[in-house]
Amino acid sequence: MEELKIPAHVAIILDGNGRWAKKRGLPRNMGHAEGCRTVERTVEDAARLGIRYLTVYGFSTENWKRDAEEVGALMQLFRYYMKRLLNIAKKNNVRVKMIGERSRFAQDIIDGINRLEEETRDNTGLTFIIAVNYGSRDEIVRAVRKMANDCVQGKLEAEAIGEETVSGYLDTAGIPDPDLLIRTSGEQRLSNYLLWQLAYTEFYFTDVLWPDFNKEELVKAIEKYSRRDRRFGGVK
Ligand code: IPE
Ligand code: IPE
Ligand code: MG
Repeated sequence: MEELKIPAHVAIILDGNGRWAKKRGLPRNMGHAEGCRTVERTVEDAARLGIRYLTVYGFSTENWKRDAEEVGALMQLFRYYMKRLLNIAKKNNVRVKMIGERSRFAQDIIDGINRLEEETRDNTGLTFIIAVNYGSRDEIVRAVRKMANDCVQGKLEAEAIGEETVSGYLDTAGIPDPDLLIRTSGEQRLSNYLLWQLAYTEFYFTDVLWPDFNKEELVKAIEKYSRRDRRFGGVK
């Protein structure tokens, strides 16, 4: 068997929690709870496979449009799993980072996010990045605003702005671009995820609903990625 090329950075759009629950006659929130358990398992699987960065889309800037009840339940799950994640991160040498605009969350959630980042900062294994209240266009707008401010204050010169500068102003500053993007549940769109960062990323779509995603599915995606011929615009 040919050797598996492990991508350094895997980005995931987890999708299908609601449909998973509906199929079983359960409320959507049960799908989200099961989805959270899948996230926990995936963090451990990714760490063991030697993936360096795992970025998961947990809550988009557009997800506030859902029913207040569903949004409330997602916030409760977030509170609960943030605490569990701290233990999992410590046990597995995982460094946790959040991207997105956190100031819209309740103060206890903001405190939890800060604590997770601070207490895992020196871990040297997998970097687990969670995108919450994240939207790529919002991220780009915030970056542009900050660059404009820095120009006005004389900290940045307009002519000196290059691709590296822009990357450095995004929430993902310092993190290499994803090599592989996985979206579950059969949907084939980006839903405002990492638009800048995914410029040369390989895409993998699967019909599996997120709560049913597991290590075998992750390995399947990596095998498919392994066989692809990445060119970055050049020729071989
Ligand atoms: C993904 O599952 C979780 C979030 C977006 C928070 P969905 O809730 O989108 O599930 P479907 O797409 O309705 O099945
Ligand atoms: C994308 O899933 C957002 C997250 C996974 C957090 P959605 O289910 O919200 O996306 P759309 O609405 O189907 O595009
Ligand atoms: Mg969905």
